[in-house]
Amino acid sequence: MISKETIEQVLMRNDIETLIGSYVSLKRAGSNLRGLCPFHSEKTPSFTVYPADNSFYCFGCGAGGDAITFIRKRENLDYPDAVEFLAQRAGITIVRDERGPIQNTPKFDRNKMFRMNVDAAKYFNRCLFADNPEAKAALAYFTDKRGLSVATIKHFGLGFAPNSFDEFSKYMLAKGYTYEELVAGFLCGKSEKGKYYDAFRNRIMFPIIDVSGNVIAFGGRVMDDSKPKYKNSSDTPVFKKSRNLFALNFARHHCAESLILCEGYMDVIAMHAAGFENAVATLGTAITSEQARMMSRYTKKVIISYDADEAGQKAAMRAVKMLTEVGLDVTILRVPGAKDPDEYIKKFGADKFRQVLSQSKSKFDYNLDIILSRYDINLPQDKIKALQESEKLISETYSSAERDIYIQNISKLFGVDKNSVKDDVERMISKANAARRKEESNKVKQDAIGYSDRVNPDFIKAPAVAKNEEALLGLLLMYPEHRKRVFDGSLVTADDFITDLNRRIFEYLKNAYINGDDSHHDIDAVFTPDEHGRITKMKLSRMELSENGEQVLTDSIERLRRSVSKKNNEKNSSLDKLAQMIEQKRKT
Ligand code: UTP
Ligand code: MN
Repeated sequence: MISKETIEQVLMRNDIETLIGSYVSLKRAGSNLRGLCPFHSEKTPSFTVYPADNSFYCFGCGAGGDAITFIRKRENLDYPDAVEFLAQRAGITIVRDERGPIQNTPKFDRNKMFRMNVDAAKYFNRCLFADNPEAKAALAYFTDKRGLSVATIKHFGLGFAPNSFDEFSKYMLAKGYTYEELVAGFLCGKSEKGKYYDAFRNRIMFPIIDVSGNVIAFGGRVMDDSKPKYKNSSDTPVFKKSRNLFALNFARHHCAESLILCEGYMDVIAMHAAGFENAVATLGTAITSEQARMMSRYTKKVIISYDADEAGQKAAMRAVKMLTEVGLDVTILRVPGAKDPDEYIKKFGADKFRQVLSQSKSKFDYNLDIILSRYDINLPQDKIKALQESEKLISETYSSAERDIYIQNISKLFGVDKNSVKDDVERMISKANAARRKEESNKVKQDAIGYSDRVNPDFIKAPAVAKNEEALLGLLLMYPEHRKRVFDGSLVTADDFITDLNRRIFEYLKNAYINGDDSHHDIDAVFTPDEHGRITKMKLSRMELSENGEQVLTDSIERLRRSVSKKNNEKNSSLDKLAQMIEQKRKT
């Protein structure tokens, strides 16, 4: 469990307006701020930030909560990771112990961790050049199998972790590092029996270096086909994988024009060796918005150079979106005849690669290429399909000026009239718009009756009761002064609640009241982001009402009671009917 002090400090030091403002462009609307929701696609802003309440809520999709909820959803992180993310952002040191929970511990000295990593990197590097058969095989993997020169190996500080249980740890202990430090730095693991072991064994090693030149982590690859292919350092006190890029320490000096974004360490190394020193890669994960923002601080243009397979193409589309969002110019590279850039360079050489690099394409042209490669447009049937798919692609382009250009290109390419392409595209756009509007209005209707409510699935069972539950909870959430009357007097109990989610919220508030703590610091640990959204909605709907005094509370409790007993009567009457039916059956 993360301590209350830590959570409160994290929330206090991450002002919600600035935090969300770094992801969403917000405009002031009275005392609040409004913008386009980052969690669903919309054209008119329904996403609102409430600085006074430190919360946000989207009236379109129901996303809502505090800074932690926002980061969980936006960065796709679980609860402890989101807290850690925000802590780092605010410069608060929290350390994660082996089993996952994180604590606020200042005992790890960052500089010592950096020294520890450098010592480890030197050790692995020495092991690679050692005079024994194991080391020779590892070196041969790099030089013979992967075609790297010794100069490149040295430049990147590559290494080899021998196949030993604890040789490395013993060495590091002798150098003055403790097991705690080695575990915190992900260089050692601890078995269930409490024995420490080397985290990297029988793997070739890639040190990860930050822009200040510190060794912050390692990736280790097997030399055969065994799994997992790579083992990477988890996040440590000095390393956050979503905030660093492999080889940016070198690439930053060569990226005035552009950066090349690759998937793999080996792609980056091959590129640098071939003279393309502006290549970087993410660290075993899909690109994050943090990394996109980082890249935008170094350059204006990014060339995505992912693997040629379908997974690579999909990842490329995701990367285009992330990178475009932060204002970067983005093109995508295809490497024909190779599975990845590394293989391409090895097969066809640096000059050929320079050529394909200069032919990297915009997202539209890249996707068009893929369509054209799937069809033979000399065949009429194929040509029609390819044309339709291309028109679909155009219809998905937001800017109408861009659409016009594509329409001209496509009509030339397929030899069809410009106006008929334009008509087709416009028809596709209005069809998509109509479908979207229909979906939105269905959603509004369904929300109104609580149908297919994923967050509170019990809603549909008793919509009237559920609405009254929400009204009461909203009041208790927004105006804690009412809690005394309700909880001390047991005016309402958990048993009065029919829907499970609302009962849990009621119990949560009651516990908070009993513990004399209405800070709700653990709310994100107890509820999912979606549930927190619902809680925020209940609270905000109360804030918008002008009357929230004692009488409103009394009425609200009364209404909940009445709806519950009405619901119970309905149940009884249907039971009665059933009983009558059975009775009749027995008689006949
Ligand atoms: P690739 O499988 O494309 O690896 O994964 P690669 O770096 O090109 O390696 P070679 O060419 O097979 O030697 C791309 C990246 O995904 C991460 C690593 O960061 C890798 O560089 N990855 C891959 C992992 O973290 N774990 C894995 O098991 C596999
Ligand atoms: Mn590869």
